[in-house]
Amino acid sequence: MTSTREAAPAAHSAADLRPYEAGRDAASPNRNLTPVTTGIDPEGRLVVGGCVLSDLARRYGTPLYVLDEATLRGTAQAYRKALASHYPGSALALYASKANSSLAITAVVASEGLGLDAVSAGELLTAVQGGMPPERIVFHGNNKSLEELRLAVELGVTVVADNWLDLEQLASLQPTHPVRLMLRFTPGIECHTHEYIRTGHLDSKFGFDPDQLQAVLQHLSQCSWAQVSGLHAHIGSQIFELQPHRDLAAVMADALKLAREMGHPVSDLNVGGGLGIRYVESDDPPSIDAWVRTVAEAVAVACQERGLELPRLLCEPGRSLVATSGVTLYSVGSRKDIPGIRTYLSVDGGMSDNPRPITYQSQYTAVLADRPEAEASDSVTLAGKHCESGDVLLKDLALPPATTGDVLAVFATGAYNASMASNYNRIPRPAAVMVHDGMAEVVQRREQPEDLLRYDVLPERLRPVA
Ligand code: LLP
Repeated sequence: MTSTREAAPAAHSAADLRPYEAGRDAASPNRNLTPVTTGIDPEGRLVVGGCVLSDLARRYGTPLYVLDEATLRGTAQAYRKALASHYPGSALALYASKANSSLAITAVVASEGLGLDAVSAGELLTAVQGGMPPERIVFHGNNKSLEELRLAVELGVTVVADNWLDLEQLASLQPTHPVRLMLRFTPGIECHTHEYIRTGHLDSKFGFDPDQLQAVLQHLSQCSWAQVSGLHAHIGSQIFELQPHRDLAAVMADALKLAREMGHPVSDLNVGGGLGIRYVESDDPPSIDAWVRTVAEAVAVACQERGLELPRLLCEPGRSLVATSGVTLYSVGSRKDIPGIRTYLSVDGGMSDNPRPITYQSQYTAVLADRPEAEASDSVTLAGKHCESGDVLLKDLALPPATTGDVLAVFATGAYNASMASNYNRIPRPAAVMVHDGMAEVVQRREQPEDLLRYDVLPERLRPVA
């Protein structure tokens, strides 16, 4: 597959730009609304990665996912740096690729020295073809197919055993070399986030019940094909609190002690992901440094208290690693004023490219790409183009008067947008471009309407008679 790297028309160097977001935290992009390279050019237009956003919209069409490589790299480096400075042992951050799985993102993350968490054959293939070394990949899933497990074993990645069926199926594959296994269990920790993205409480479909851990470890002592290399737990996503992560460290250290006492030389403790990001001004997530420090110190202390040799510390950031590098561009279309009620401004995408508002009532921040600083004298509801009343991207958005054709930029869409996109209403998925130093490259081509018909089959007997 080839790609074209093009200098964006009207590319800008950082020197031409005024900073856009006041008080930006350069060291922790998850605390910002916009990519770290965001600026305003002399014409007052929004620029990301040296590219004028409205030019990208004209060149590549809308909706368009824009990914800022510098923000992505900076975030990966922030995780590495924090782990190196706060954890006394070795450590590795694994990118939870469910947040946004693509060859280009994998390649960037791999080149920054991170590992990766995959949950399906598709994510595994993307990881391997994107250049992630198999020894840095872990394979998750609460209902892995036999074929997926076979692929994981062939590739030599670490398998996260989630349930008894995983163990039975792995055994049935009769692996010829020991399979590195990580055991996932539900730690019984509650945290404050949306119900759908909470996973650590006991009533969860993921992982072994903690009461079963001993039996699982006992069983695995008899399995010559298995090498229990790690333990895993994950408490949820978009979490702003730090205390649940401290509590998790203690629960995991107890499990580590148990496993080692039972003769399993477990080396890895994987605390999952979950650090939140800023979607709207009022969000105030901890920094990457504060999160890693909390986790690292808590794990180190919990292990010391139990007299345990320090494990390698693994974590699995998804959202906090990619969300802020992403901006989605839309074109404004129709407008409907309902006097005394509201004004709908419709854009050319919606719940098919960003299902988060309709699924989790998530909030976002948006501006006009060419007039981000103009007086926001209008209040509009930003509607998508799908045949569903709930297809609303943003409610009561303060915006300067906008007209058809204006380009709208929605921030912090790098995580769980492209990866959760659908073809509802047979709408093709958007293209994605990666921007860097005034250059833009397509990293995911725009789907075409014909692509959507590729898997349809019209039986002979149903064909219209000429
Ligand atoms: N590790 C495991 C085992 C996970 O299940 C997840 C997320 C992560 C790591 C990464 O968590 P993060 O750092 O991104 O919070 N679609 C939802 C989020 C679902 C998260 C699922 N698991 C959303 O759009 O908010």
